[in-house]
Amino acid sequence: MFDRLEIPIIQGPMLGATAAAIVIAVSNTGALGSLAASSLPADRMRAAIAAIRAETTRPFLVNIFVLEPAHPDPAEVRAAMQRLAPWRERYGLPAQSIPNAWAESFADQFDVLIETAPPVVSFTFGCLSAPQVAALKGRGSYVIGTATTLAEARAWAAVGADAICAQGFEAGGHRGTFLAPVRQSLVGTIALTRSIAAELDLPVISAGGITDGAGVAAALALGARAVQIGTGYLLADESLANAPWRRAIETAPDDATQLTRAISGRYARGIENEFMREMRAVEDDIPAYPVQNALTQELRAAGARANSPDALSLWAGQSVKLARKGKAADITRDLWREAREVMKRNAERWTA
Ligand SMILES: Cc1cc2nc3c(=O)[nH]c(=O)nc-3n(C[C@H](O)[C@H](O)[C@H](O)COP(=O)(O)O)c2cc1C
Repeated sequence: MFDRLEIPIIQGPMLGATAAAIVIAVSNTGALGSLAASSLPADRMRAAIAAIRAETTRPFLVNIFVLEPAHPDPAEVRAAMQRLAPWRERYGLPAQSIPNAWAESFADQFDVLIETAPPVVSFTFGCLSAPQVAALKGRGSYVIGTATTLAEARAWAAVGADAICAQGFEAGGHRGTFLAPVRQSLVGTIALTRSIAAELDLPVISAGGITDGAGVAAALALGARAVQIGTGYLLADESLANAPWRRAIETAPDDATQLTRAISGRYARGIENEFMREMRAVEDDIPAYPVQNALTQELRAAGARANSPDALSLWAGQSVKLARKGKAADITRDLWREAREVMKRNAERWTA
């Protein structure tokens, strides 16, 4: 798969920020565009994959979350709804009703992957079984598992994954962590890339904190076969990031990001806002993903309509200040040109 890429850059799948347009734009440069499909029901997932196939003959990636069906405790849900009530009032929302579904069905989405056989598929939040990986490979898909620790990388290797996406703690958005508690799973991109590359005989994709050409060159020097960039595409023309989110990125103060589980019930990195600060004290009581995620959905949409960042998920990684604007294709080509310049300069400087 990597030999088919002219540019070893993966535009990271980003739920809430990426759809078919950015995937097409990036894949057509010779890098790899990724569709974040975890929020899509089966028919919309099929349609998005068909739309990508209509506009590019190059490889592209489809990503979903590995999720079990949620059966939350009703008392926990009521308590979560009470916590959110003042926030809903602030944005003029009516009293909350329990959503019809907590998340899209993983089983249905997996079936769509088998049916449509995208060239590359990737997974986060959990690990597939060996028969599931074999079924995807049998359809010709290249399978990437996301790992935030060496143990998680070993788990993906054991079920037959083709490559590991090593997600350092710098990364924006949700942590893919699925084995140990998050506090024991905060490994930096450098340490994680090197540890996995040294221990496992699988290609490693570095993700987390890589937002310019020097970062790309650094990850390749560590032995990564490719890099996965999320935050670096959030300001792209094709990004779906809404206006207050973009503003928060463009005006981010120094060291602006924090991990929180207040917004979705799963730890994720974003620019700190009022909601994150207010919920900090009760963070451990919040129902796990996808329940809290579903409960805050209308609130986040109302915040975006009000052009307010206070209750949004302002997902972004630690190198948010390096994010740049422009067409996704230009961003991709510029990153790669800069990376090559850095590698050339370093080779000249250190091998002279
Ligand atoms: C807004 C946002 C949404 C994300 N959504 C997903 C997702 O749906 N699936 C996934 O595997 N990773 C997701 N990620 C992680 C990215 O694909 C990528 O690995 C990460 O952003 C790399 O770190 P960086 O943000 O420092 O570049 C998301 C990241 C961000 C910033």
